[in-house]
Amino acid sequence: MNNQISLIVNGVQHTLEAKPNETLSDLLRYRLRLTGTKIGCDEAECGACTVLVDGEPVVSCIYPAERADGKNIITIEGLADLTPNPSPERRGEQLHPLQEAFVEHGAVQCGFCIPGQIMTAYALLERNPNPTKDEVRFALKDTLCRCAGYPAIENSILAAAESLRTGEPVKKPHIPDSIHVHKSVGHTHTRHDGVDKVIGTAIYTDDLVFDDMLYAKAKRAMIPHGFLTKLDISKAKALPGVVAVLTAEDIPAEHNHGLV
Ligand code: FES
Ligand code: FES
Repeated sequence: MNNQISLIVNGVQHTLEAKPNETLSDLLRYRLRLTGTKIGCDEAECGACTVLVDGEPVVSCIYPAERADGKNIITIEGLADLTPNPSPERRGEQLHPLQEAFVEHGAVQCGFCIPGQIMTAYALLERNPNPTKDEVRFALKDTLCRCAGYPAIENSILAAAESLRTGEPVKKPHIPDSIHVHKSVGHTHTRHDGVDKVIGTAIYTDDLVFDDMLYAKAKRAMIPHGFLTKLDISKAKALPGVVAVLTAEDIPAEHNHGLV
């Protein structure tokens, strides 16, 4: 194994010690603190961790960090810098048309899948600037949204594609105001945290870091419908770095069926 990894992330050169079995997503999230790249499944199923490696979308949760040596990586945090013809007056606050469209069209709900959706969409528009709705759906087929905001996501991508082709501002959705006149109710609003969620600065529980933080992992018996008759945790407790091993015995009150 090469002892060092040199890579460019969002235009910045980094040289880091290589770590055995490290994935690109771990390198980005834990070593560079670019937590905009999300981990949904950690096994190449959901697409939340999609980043661009030399322009190609990859699921970074299974991409070996070592393989990124010498590569150019773009994450959601770097996407705004790829905005064509950026406005000098809006330097540092301008969104890429995809990010703007996701906010304007209400595609951002919990926002957890959004970095992966946007990076996948960026790669699509790079190779096909004028996709049909079906082509958008096909491109996003492996990028899952548990909030199921797919129609808004598709509309956002089509609106961004049009803006990128024409150079015109991203078109907003046509949603008429209510016939009842109120200050806030009855009008369309964008999410208050929408921008943070499309630029990768929104912080989720998994992104928090504290001094001396401990990490917990649930260990499940890999036998469906089995009865647990005894449990020996002595070897697990003796592992270096293990502070505690908790079992049902440590949980007060009545023990019923269900997840710990
Ligand atoms: S976290 Fe990588 S595909 Fe789900
Ligand atoms: S916005 Fe919540 S998972 Fe897609």
